Amino acid sequence: MKIYVTRRIPAQGITPLAEHEVEIHAEDTPVSHNELVEKIRTADALISLLTDEIDADILGYGKNLKVIANYAVGYDNIDIEEATERGIVVTNTPDVLTDATAEFAWTLLFAATRRLGEGERIARAGKFKGWAPTFLLGQGVRGKTLGVIGAGRIGTRFALMSKGFEMKVFYYDEERNDTLEQELDAKRVDISYLLHASDFVSIHLPLTRYTHHLIDAHQIFRMKSTAVLVNTSRGALVDEKALAAALKAGKIAAAGLDVFENEPQITPELLDTENVVLAPHIGSATHEARSAMAALCSKAVLSVFGGQMPSNIVNKEVWPKRRE
Ligand code: DGY
Repeated sequence: MKIYVTRRIPAQGITPLAEHEVEIHAEDTPVSHNELVEKIRTADALISLLTDEIDADILGYGKNLKVIANYAVGYDNIDIEEATERGIVVTNTPDVLTDATAEFAWTLLFAATRRLGEGERIARAGKFKGWAPTFLLGQGVRGKTLGVIGAGRIGTRFALMSKGFEMKVFYYDEERNDTLEQELDAKRVDISYLLHASDFVSIHLPLTRYTHHLIDAHQIFRMKSTAVLVNTSRGALVDEKALAAALKAGKIAAAGLDVFENEPQITPELLDTENVVLAPHIGSATHEARSAMAALCSKAVLSVFGGQMPSNIVNKEVWPKRRE
């Protein structure tokens, strides 16, 4: 079988495929549209990245394509309906990056809340004039209210990590989360209330047509002037221009962002905003997570080739009518 991998990934994603013909786009830039079209024409499997837009047009060229193993938990870069229609199995990389991403959401929460970005810029610019009682004051987190938007795997782990800080926890999700309710006495609330009542808000929802710009000017307006917003999910959940305007006007205290609507471009209004910490989409960037993600991709490809439904399939309904 022929497998095309759109970027160099850890060996765990490649070595198990040794029996097959594997081709890797070995550069550190995303594969071009034309190259992807060319490679997909003959591939039986594709290991793709979240930076590859696999739309209906591209899928149309993949006449032999049986499986797309997306090297990410999010799969908004793939037209799932079209893949399903064409009998192509799609998989993602859940669970293995839950800790890394939840830990990074806390990293951003603390960095934004304690004004680490501003402090770093001052220190590096040689502008540190010595310890001072009112210099770069932030807020403490103990006993404050945490709002978790999306209580799936990562949102749940993120919320559970608040245990040591004795926080009051609100969450917004379509479904009730028994773990959060039992372990943290968390309350499920609507998004408007969550934004209004929380000191810290962290977003953990996938990007869909329903969550695009979920946090817009109108929603930001509901937040406390002392609130901190964190996003490690997908950039397009937040209206970045509205957020930058709110941060500049002091409508909210700070934000920490790992993801952006038009990556790798960052909305210019954010770049000159002091009270936002910007990270270049590194939420899952630990050695452990990235190796395990790679292993899940190769395992999924081999499962499909072997006629076994992978546990991390995202379009289960395709299975009975999948391409063999
Ligand atoms: C994912 O897996 O969707 C993440 O955004 C990668 O860090």
